[in-house]
Amino acid sequence: MDVQPDDLPDGLVIADGAGRVVCFNAAAVRITGRSREEALGSPLHTALPLEDLDGRRWWQLTDPYGGPAIRNGQPERNLLLPGGHEVLVAARYVRARPRGPVERVVVTLRGTEARRRTERSHAELIATVAHELRSPLTSVKGFTATLLAKWERFTDDQKRLMLETVNADANRVTRLIAELLDISRIDSGRLEVRRQRLDMAAAVRRHLEAHVAAGRPASRFKTGIADKLPDLWADPDKIDQVLANLLENAVRHGEGTVTIEVQPTSFPRDPGGTATAVTVSDEGPGIPEESMSRVFTRFWRGSRRGGTGLGLYIVKGIVEAHGGVITVDRAPEGGARFRFILPVGAPAFMA
Ligand SMILES: Nc1ncnc2c1ncn2[C@@H]1O[C@H](COP(=O)(O)OP(=O)(O)O)[C@@H](O)[C@H]1O
Ligand SMILES: [Mg+2]
Repeated sequence: MDVQPDDLPDGLVIADGAGRVVCFNAAAVRITGRSREEALGSPLHTALPLEDLDGRRWWQLTDPYGGPAIRNGQPERNLLLPGGHEVLVAARYVRARPRGPVERVVVTLRGTEARRRTERSHAELIATVAHELRSPLTSVKGFTATLLAKWERFTDDQKRLMLETVNADANRVTRLIAELLDISRIDSGRLEVRRQRLDMAAAVRRHLEAHVAAGRPASRFKTGIADKLPDLWADPDKIDQVLANLLENAVRHGEGTVTIEVQPTSFPRDPGGTATAVTVSDEGPGIPEESMSRVFTRFWRGSRRGGTGLGLYIVKGIVEAHGGVITVDRAPEGGARFRFILPVGAPAFMA
């Protein structure tokens, strides 16, 4: 395949061993507002007069040709071009041999649209969260105000009903906040996985017993658990969260019998290794083909049956923090089928 520098969506500037610009692609022209003729052959620091946000000259500061010979580049940073134009800049120093002299400096430039997009998605997230918090709080506020103002006018049964609603809405806010904290840990890579020996078969059975104890008919659930399962080291609380979410979804969004299978499998990225696969399927409407790629994103909801749309995003975050994978497809019976695979996760395996 033959890719020309001008085909690249990002700015590309390459300087030779003497620090002279030898490549200045079309995106670099667009981002810097400098012509190619002007740039080619001139020193890097005049073709790209970058400054950091404190006004220091970037090339003097980083000194690619004279700096420590172990340095191989600069991570992406937000810098300024003359006129205060922001650019995201990353550099790689190409050496003929390790610790040898720098033969080429390859610089990429990105306009700030990428960052603006991230900022916009943060703003959208904040708006959604504010909205999600406001509706239950509006109800809490409304019922408490009504009860306080007209306490004697209601019967005990009416008061009980209102307080039950207030209680449920308060629970919803608490749950939402717990989910948001999980999401912030997942997004910032701070989700801690405390691995222990985990008996997946026992965990699954415990969850099913809890559903039955809560009044759901035992006939709604079916299990297929292999006799011999591979060892598994995982965070029991987090795996509980995964199982709880998938089962709750199957019961709430799905229909008919919910089947949970626990089987040994090989891990996709490590075909020789053993892994544990857990499959949760139901006989409901399933997830429409065109939405399958979106079910694991934040706030995506197909139906209007309660829920915040955060459950599956957290499930995926937890599974991936364990080095696992999760997928969704259609069960043979027509409903949704979720399947997650966890590698053994033993300390020796992870090292
Ligand atoms: N077993 C299932 N059957 C059908 N749809 C499902 C199933 N599980 C999840 N979904 C769809 O995926 C959406 C996102 O799920 P989730 O992230 O857990 O959010 P929530 O349960 O809060 O709505 C749900 O709103 C639902 O439309
Ligand atoms: Mg859910």
